[in-house]
Amino acid sequence: MPSTTPLIAPSVLAADFARLGEEVRSVVRAGADWIHFDVMDNHYVPNLSIGPDVAAAIKPFCVDGEGAPVPLDVHLMIKPVDALAEQFASAGADLISFHPEASEHVDRSLQAIKAAGCRAGLVFNPATPLDVLDWTIERLDLILIMSVNPGFGGQAFLPAVLDKAREARERIAACGRDIRLQIDGGINPDNIRAAADAGVDTFVAGSAIFGQDDYASVIRCMRERLA
Ligand code: DX5
Ligand code: ZN
Repeated sequence: MPSTTPLIAPSVLAADFARLGEEVRSVVRAGADWIHFDVMDNHYVPNLSIGPDVAAAIKPFCVDGEGAPVPLDVHLMIKPVDALAEQFASAGADLISFHPEASEHVDRSLQAIKAAGCRAGLVFNPATPLDVLDWTIERLDLILIMSVNPGFGGQAFLPAVLDKAREARERIAACGRDIRLQIDGGINPDNIRAAADAGVDTFVAGSAIFGQDDYASVIRCMRERLA
């Protein structure tokens, strides 16, 4: 079991884009710990979503009721990585993660993200092994295990990735650094516990939260399942 506090990171990909600021405010008030921001380029993945200007526009809404900042967690599904990563850092990203297949020079991309003042993460697709962690884990603040193939919200959770989450948890424990282990894709109150039992401590959920009328009750239900 992870020793860190579980975090819920609603994905705004499933929010109403016509009212995005209001949606972010609502989900933060409902108890979101991070705001997950999915960036798709119609090149690395077959879909197009939102860019740095939209991140900058929602940044002022990423504060809780006491005025404390709620981290903006940017998940880049883009190729190439580096130039846009820097734009997202300038737009107010707190964490930036990317897929190692999408960068020609993974270590350079990680260094650029850290140099821009952000926490850095690597993202592993369902068919991507964790080998690249051998030479990157010392730079990482986040490891994201995809539980769907990236590109679309609302897909079904792939349970085979739980074994990979377990392996990632072992690698984090072995290196001894403070690294969040995140899962993304098809997470809902019915499967969140299985992910936690595999060592995950940070849970992205899009349609399971924004698809419901009462965001607070879904987030509360998720926390109850994690307790
Ligand atoms: C998929 C994205 C996910 C996705 C989550 O490429 O990275 O963040 O939008 O949405 P749900 O929870 O609906 O699978
Ligand atoms: Zn995502």
